[in-house]
Amino acid sequence: MEFEKKILCIGAGYVGGPTMAMIAAKCPPYKITVVDINPARIAAWNSHSLPIYEPGLDVLVQKTRGVNLFFSTAVEAGISDADIIFVSVNTPTKTFGQGAGKAANLQFWEKTARQILAHSTADKIVVEKSTLPVRTAEVMQRILNNTKNVHFEVVSNPEFLAEGTAIADLENPDRVLIGSQETPTGLAARKAIVDIYAHWVPRDRILESNVWSAELSKLTANAFLAQRISSINAISALCEKSQADVAEVTNAIGKDSRIGAKFLKAGVGFGGSCFKKDILNLVYISHGYGLTEVAEYWESVIKINAWQENRFVRTMLESMFNTVAGKRIALFGIAFKANTGDTRESPALVIARGLLEERAQVVITDPKALDNARQDLHDVKEGLSFEADPYCAAEGAHAVALLTDWKLYQDLDYQRILRSMERPAFVFDGRNLLDHKKLFELGFNVFAIGKAPLRHF
Ligand code: UDX
Ligand code: UDX
Repeated sequence: MEFEKKILCIGAGYVGGPTMAMIAAKCPPYKITVVDINPARIAAWNSHSLPIYEPGLDVLVQKTRGVNLFFSTAVEAGISDADIIFVSVNTPTKTFGQGAGKAANLQFWEKTARQILAHSTADKIVVEKSTLPVRTAEVMQRILNNTKNVHFEVVSNPEFLAEGTAIADLENPDRVLIGSQETPTGLAARKAIVDIYAHWVPRDRILESNVWSAELSKLTANAFLAQRISSINAISALCEKSQADVAEVTNAIGKDSRIGAKFLKAGVGFGGSCFKKDILNLVYISHGYGLTEVAEYWESVIKINAWQENRFVRTMLESMFNTVAGKRIALFGIAFKANTGDTRESPALVIARGLLEERAQVVITDPKALDNARQDLHDVKEGLSFEADPYCAAEGAHAVALLTDWKLYQDLDYQRILRSMERPAFVFDGRNLLDHKKLFELGFNVFAIGKAPLRHF
């Protein structure tokens, strides 16, 4: 079959995979190829067991794979064949050299840009899908348009999908943002990308901007979301010291339409691959422009987050009579949030390590993330085990700490759990997910975030 347009995506990760599956489903006349340097990942995309867990993704892939969606390791052939190339390779925080711990590591991005240049014989549009520092497009434009007779337009189309709801977010986005240069070729490239999304996204939700605004909007959106969480978590500490209840405070302020109710849930802190990385990036850029106060302002969002994670460990320690050494503690959830197997930057990992340092016997359970957690904690030699069944995890434990808001933890039989635990039995609800009064009445000592503890002693 002749396809109208050929789209390539480099990087078959959490962003590239689901996004391309949605474009394939919504745009039958386009051929979509997703390539990756990791053959195991591509093999998984071509199998029954996809490399990432995302509700609704398997159905979408089944419908499109082999029809107009293809997964391959042939990066170079893919480049020369494509009209439009989305780049969604990872851009982790740099771990070395200048800007280590803050700046984005653009080595994969630049390598990919050079690969695109080497294997292109016709004009192409290159779309930034990875989150990148502001003005990266300019650098890319320079690398790409340096040597050949071929013209490249770099467009920024940042991704706002959240893990666990990626398919719904892609299908019905609040907005799609497309930034380009405001030259005739830039505007034409912008239109080509708008045309893709216009297959299913209402036109008034497709925003157009200059390329710098698009890049900065992505960092700003994540920084604002993270800032709301750190703000409410800071207030949760104050609630625990006073007689206030953070859920009541959240409800009261969330009703103010200027504030809004979303992203105000206090907990053990935010995780995920984006928030910390993007804020660090913003901090680094601000320092780069000599804006020290701006950098410090955003840095404090990360500081509060780390403090909240550590504070949770401290609360556990203090309430369990200042020692957890040798005590079995069941961690319910290790994923950074519900409905994903992803553990990147998960607060639960920090808490697990904090408890292990105190020599607790930590047992981790999670419905989707145990494989990832095993890898993350592979260096731990003692005191750690994994258990698929939460009832087995809690057996003989002194405490259960709920760290991921999986709904299944709400529906467990806590009477049965209590019967199998040591006394006094503790529940630390790091996501304020459970019915605290009921647990207390069953006989648990209950510690939640931003609420007065309920204890029997
Ligand atoms: C990525 C970026 O990390 C993030 O900044 C951006 O916002 C969205 O895209 P994600 O999809 O979660 O996020 O990353 P990951 O799941 O790690 O996938 C990246 C993929 O790119 C990996 O499968 C990796 O093998 C691949 N890759 C990396 C290449 O194909 N070529 C490279 O040179 C480097
Ligand atoms: C985020 C952004 O939401 C998304 O737009 C962007 O493209 C990528 O980064 P994601 O990391 O998948 O998405 O998850 P998100 O739902 O934003 O949650 C991030 C973290 O914040 C999780 O650890 C979650 O548990 C926590 N969180 C979220 C809270 O603690 N309280 C809240 O009210 C909301």
